[in-house]
Amino acid sequence: MSNHGKHDKANSTAKRGISRRQFLSYTLGGAGAFMAAGMSLPMIRFAVDPILQKKAAGTWIKVVEANKLTNEPQEFKFKIHQVDGWYVSDPELTAWISKDDSGKAFALSPVCKHLGCTIGWNTEKNNEYVCPCHGAHYTKDGKNLVVAPKPLDEYDLKIENDWVYLGPVKANTRVK
Ligand code: FES
Repeated sequence: MSNHGKHDKANSTAKRGISRRQFLSYTLGGAGAFMAAGMSLPMIRFAVDPILQKKAAGTWIKVVEANKLTNEPQEFKFKIHQVDGWYVSDPELTAWISKDDSGKAFALSPVCKHLGCTIGWNTEKNNEYVCPCHGAHYTKDGKNLVVAPKPLDEYDLKIENDWVYLGPVKANTRVK
């Protein structure tokens, strides 16, 4: 009888033990599931996002009438429509456009290849592009002369119906 009583007691202790373990495992399991849900949200976004990404690539922007171009570089500003995921913007860009000796038009990016300041044409009256930040100099074709490690980038350019259109920026093709 007394043995039976002991057994009962042990049994109920064991039951309590199990239920405590169960309680712990439910709690931990709950936390795990909660963390998993937290992780799956960014993953869903990651999976869906590529469908929404950049649609602006490959667009040509009408910038200026071709007969306005001169051999002397001139600064032109234009806006592009950009869609990046949910973010839509219309940033204003700048191009320095001129014609070479054969009359061919080309457009350079104003972003200095040293640390990204904005260059200007002939600011030191030496027929060169000059960067005000650390003194980089470039030729009219964008060739880097001092400070900057690379030539100025170039925009894709086409002329259609007497208008100049600019496309994406690419590495300079005019400088060897
Ligand atoms: S950023 Fe142009 S010279 Fe340094």
